[in-house]
Amino acid sequence: MHPNLFPTIALLLVITALSLIHFPSSSYADDEQYLNCSQPFDCAGIKDLSYPFWGSNIRPSYCGHPAFELSCSDDAPLINITFMTYRVLEVENVSRTLTVAREDYWNTLCPATIVNTTINFTVFHYDSATTNLTLYYDCPISTTTNLPQPDTTQFGCSVNDTDVSNYYFNNTVLNSIGNSWGACKYNVNVPVLESVAQPASSDSTALQEAIDGGFLLGWDANNSLCDGCKATGGQCGCSVASMKIVISFSLSVATLMEKKGSSISN
Ligand SMILES: *[C@@H]1O[C@H](CO)[C@@H](O)[C@H](O)[C@H]1NC(C)=O
Ligand SMILES: *[C@@H]1O[C@H](CO)[C@@H](O)[C@H](O)[C@H]1NC(C)=O
Ligand SMILES: *[C@@H]1O[C@H](CO)[C@@H](O)[C@H](O)[C@H]1NC(C)=O
Ligand SMILES: *[C@@H]1O[C@H](CO)[C@@H](O)[C@H](O)[C@H]1NC(C)=O
Ligand SMILES: *[C@@H]1O[C@H](CO)[C@@H](O)[C@H](O)[C@H]1NC(C)=O
Ligand SMILES: *[C@@H]1O[C@H](CO)[C@@H](O)[C@H](O)[C@H]1NC(C)=O
Ligand SMILES: *[C@@H]1O[C@H](CO)[C@@H](O)[C@H](O)[C@H]1NC(C)=O
Ligand SMILES: *[C@@H]1O[C@H](CO)[C@@H](O)[C@H](O)[C@H]1NC(C)=O
Ligand SMILES: *[C@@H]1O[C@H](CO)[C@@H](O)[C@H](O)[C@H]1NC(C)=O
Repeated sequence: MHPNLFPTIALLLVITALSLIHFPSSSYADDEQYLNCSQPFDCAGIKDLSYPFWGSNIRPSYCGHPAFELSCSDDAPLINITFMTYRVLEVENVSRTLTVAREDYWNTLCPATIVNTTINFTVFHYDSATTNLTLYYDCPISTTTNLPQPDTTQFGCSVNDTDVSNYYFNNTVLNSIGNSWGACKYNVNVPVLESVAQPASSDSTALQEAIDGGFLLGWDANNSLCDGCKATGGQCGCSVASMKIVISFSLSVATLMEKKGSSISN
């Protein structure tokens, strides 16, 4: 027996066994997808992204999870979660968390339409470092008599060219004040990091900075399936055709043997 043949056959057996257990569909067709998905990509200033992220014109959808499409043409990546657009400030792929800030609140406390934060709990969860601020808009003067401290948490907005009084509270304060805040026209919850939920000053800049600092979301894009795929040398992706979220692209056995063959002949 040719001495170089044994490792090749051993490799072949291992690969065949693995592909029978996990990924019976490994084939030549996978090669291109494997190669297309194997390089990390950059998006609007965030480097080295990989599964579950993808983005039109930058990374094929089969390299990611449908819920993790990024738009990379602004100064930060944008992601849509339940019809709301968020600015991605940071991605941590080991802990699988991302820091996002509401795009409609970016540099303003007075967005055109005042809506609650919604996230998709199928794929995201609030990290324990995240807490809510509740923002009350267009409050009647009488409401302010209930304030727990000098109105340190007031901020201004003009609604239809009329200046209105608005307030914000963290959960601690919210639990200790009366329900007269229901008299305000709108209230919304905006997540921030726990570490900045203590209003530093009466300056609304502190509030703006807290919101623009974003909040932490954990993600689950079938993480453990993807780990299993990577452990066997595969690249994670999805198949729209079969509606499967995590499929594993791997180099075909034939390609691996060609590679092995060329490294032997070197
Ligand atoms: C892989 O990427 C190249 C270049 O972006 C593209 O032309 C090709 O169609 C992709 N292959 C597959 C299987 O999508
Ligand atoms: C994190 O991303 C880097 C670069 O894309 C990649 O090499 C690494 O395998 C990723 N780690 C995990 C746990 O996904
Ligand atoms: C997010 O939604 C907006 C408005 O519906 C759309 O214009 C934009 O392309 C979407 N972005 C992504 C990354 O899907
Ligand atoms: C939440 O994410 C799941 C998985 O991607 C998706 O099927 C579902 O449509 C999403 N729900 C909303 C409201 O966007
Ligand atoms: C936001 O959600 C709260 C309940 O969590 C609700 O009282 C409030 O009316 C909602 N605000 C808007 C603008 O929908
Ligand atoms: C913020 O408040 C909303 C509505 O009460 C709730 O659904 C959400 O889980 C809260 N977010 C955090 C981070 O506690
Ligand atoms: C602003 O005024 C218009 C027309 O009077 C009204 O339809 C709209 O609801 C007002 N917007 C707010 C946020 O009150
Ligand atoms: C909430 O705000 C109050 C007063 O502004 C502050 O004393 C308290 O520490 C804050 N709580 C948290 C959890 O940040
Ligand atoms: C996990 O994968 C299964 C099978 O592919 C899929 O049905 C499910 O939606 C995936 N879960 C998430 C959170 O994407």
